[in-house]
Amino acid sequence: MCGIVGYSGLKQAAPILLDGLARLEYRGYDSAGIAVRDGDGEIKVVKAKGRLAVLAEKTDSGKALLGRCGVGHTRWATHGAPSEINAHPHHSDDGNVVGIHNGIIENYKELKELLEKNGYSFYSSTDTEVAIKLIDYYYKKGSGSPIDALTRAMTRITGSYSFAILFKDFPDEIFAARKDSPLIVGVGDDESFLASDVPAILKYTRSVYYIGNYEIAHLSGGKVDFYNIDGERIEKEPSEISWDAATAEKAGYEHFMIKEIHEQPEAVKNTLSSVIHDGKIDLSSVGITDEELKSISTIYIVACGSAYHVGAVMQYVIEDLAGIPVRVELASEFRYRKPVLDKSGLCIIISQSGETADSLAALREAKSRGLRTLAIVNVVGSSIAREADNVFYTLAGPEIAVATTKAYSAQLVAGYTFAVQLAYVLGRIDETKYEDLIAELLTLPEKIETILEDKERLQWFAAKQSSSTDIFFIGRGIDYAISLEGSLKMKEISYIHSESYAAGELKHGAISLIEDGTLVVGCLTQSELYEKTVSNMVECQSRGAYLMAVTTAGNYNTEDIADFTVYIPETDSHFAASLAVVPLQLMSYYVSLAKGLDVDKPRNLAKSVTVE
Ligand code: F6R
Repeated sequence: MCGIVGYSGLKQAAPILLDGLARLEYRGYDSAGIAVRDGDGEIKVVKAKGRLAVLAEKTDSGKALLGRCGVGHTRWATHGAPSEINAHPHHSDDGNVVGIHNGIIENYKELKELLEKNGYSFYSSTDTEVAIKLIDYYYKKGSGSPIDALTRAMTRITGSYSFAILFKDFPDEIFAARKDSPLIVGVGDDESFLASDVPAILKYTRSVYYIGNYEIAHLSGGKVDFYNIDGERIEKEPSEISWDAATAEKAGYEHFMIKEIHEQPEAVKNTLSSVIHDGKIDLSSVGITDEELKSISTIYIVACGSAYHVGAVMQYVIEDLAGIPVRVELASEFRYRKPVLDKSGLCIIISQSGETADSLAALREAKSRGLRTLAIVNVVGSSIAREADNVFYTLAGPEIAVATTKAYSAQLVAGYTFAVQLAYVLGRIDETKYEDLIAELLTLPEKIETILEDKERLQWFAAKQSSSTDIFFIGRGIDYAISLEGSLKMKEISYIHSESYAAGELKHGAISLIEDGTLVVGCLTQSELYEKTVSNMVECQSRGAYLMAVTTAGNYNTEDIADFTVYIPETDSHFAASLAVVPLQLMSYYVSLAKGLDVDKPRNLAKSVTVE
C-alpha cells in the first residue's frame, strides 16, 4: 500500500506535497519521493529511502524545489525492496513521462517484455516503472494525448492501480487514473489536489471527487475534468467532507493509537445513533428492510485481521440471538477455497479501510455466486463500500494508527445492531427483550469511558510485562473471540510473541509452552463459562504461569487466583467484547510504549493492505 498526493495551482507545490504525504505516511513508510515541475522546465525528481523526514531534510522541507505542480508518493514495498532506486516517482527513459503508482501490476513481466522489444530499458525492480514506460510507449505511439495514452495503458494492465502522471509537454497538469486503489481529487480556488485519502488534502479543501474504477482525472489548476476508459468526458458530483482537519491530527495525544482508543466512546455512540432512532433499530440507511432480513438463510462473515475478530464475536451473537447459522471466514481463504454457498445467504464483509485486497476479492466472489452482500465499512466511498449491495458505515472517523481500535469497536456495535434487529424481526426476541438490548447498547459509550478513566493501573502492570517473551490470551465463547483481538493487538505493536487459545483447547498441546512466569491473560466475561475458564487458568498457574484476568465487576473472587485483575462494568453478555477489549488495547499500547517502540507504525505492517 502506498500514499499518493498531487498539487496543481499557484502555490509552491513541494511543501504542500510533503505536508500531504505526512498525513498519508500510515499508508506506507519505507521510502518516499516527489516530482515537481514549473512552466516548461524539466521535471525534477527527489527520492529518499526511509521515513518522510529523510525526504523533507533532503529538500529543505520542500522549499528547495520550485514549481507549482507536482506529485508525491510514500511507499510500502511490494515489487522491489525498499530503496531509493525503487522509490517513486519513476520516469520514462527520456524523462518525458514521470509518475507514481499505488497497487500491483499483475502482468508487469509480459508488459516489460513488450517494452524491451521496443527498446526500453529498466533501472528498478518495480512494476511501477513498467507501467510508466507503458504509458510513455502509448503516448509516443498514439496521438500524443495523455488521455489516449492512459486509456490504452489501462486496457493493457491487469491488476490494481492508482496513477498520478506528469507529462513534460503538459506543464502544470496532472493526469490520474484508478482501478481498485483509492484516489480522490480535491478542488479549491485556482488549485486542485490529488490524494489516496482525505486527510492529505483536508487542510486545503473539503470539496472532494471520488475517482471511480477505470476513470481518469485531469487536473489543471482549479479545473478538473474526468474521463472514462473510452476517453469520453464524464460528469461527476463533488462530495462535501464534514469532518475537520483536527480530527485527522493527534489532538495532543502522544500517539494516534491512544487518541483513537479514547475516541471509542464517540465512535460507538455515533455508529449506534446512525441506526437507533426513538429506541428502535432502523436499518433503512443501510438499505435492508425487515422483510429482506427475514429471508436470509445463512450468514457468511468474511474479513481480515481485527475485522475478522469482529466477525468471530458476531458469529456468537447472531447465532445466539437470531438462531441463524453463521460462518466466519478469513477473506484470504474464502476467495480461493471455492466455498459451498447458499444463494439465499447474506455475505457480510467487514473492513475499516474498505480497500483490503482479500476482502474486496471475497466480496466479488460472493457477488459472482449470486449472494447479496453487505459491507460494514468505515471509509466512505472506498472500493468495498462502492461494490457491496448494501453498506453499513461505521462512524469511527479517520483511523490513522496501524493497529485498529476505534474502527474495531464501531464494527462491533454495527454487528450488534444488525444481530438484534435480525433476532427481533425473526421473532426470536420479544418487544421487551428488544428494547432492553437497545437500551443496553446505548450505555456502552459511557461504560467504555469508565474503563478509560482507570488506565493508570494498567499502565503500571503493562510496564512490568514489557520484558515478556510469550503471552497467552485465553477464553471461551465470546471470550475466545475477545482473546483473538487481545493477542493480535499485543503482538503487532509490542513484538512480543502472543497466542490466543480457546481455553478448553490448551490441554491439547499448547499448555506445554507454559513456563515459569509466562503471562496468561484470561477473559472471563461470560458467566456460564466463567468457572471453566478459571480452571484452565489454574491449570496454567500450576505450571508456573503468571495470571491476569479481565472480568466483570462483581466477580471479585477472581482476585483469589489471578495475580492482576481488571474489572469491566456489567453489560449484557452478548456485548462484553466492546468493554473487555479496551483494557487489552490499553495494555498492548502501554507495553509498546514501555519498550520505546513506534506504536503507530509497527514494523512490517501497513494500515490498509491493498495487495494479497
Ligand atoms: C490490526 C489491524 C488489521 C486490520 C486488517 C483488515 O490492528 O488493523 O488486522 O484489521 O488488516 O483491515 P481492514 O479492516 O481495513 O479491511
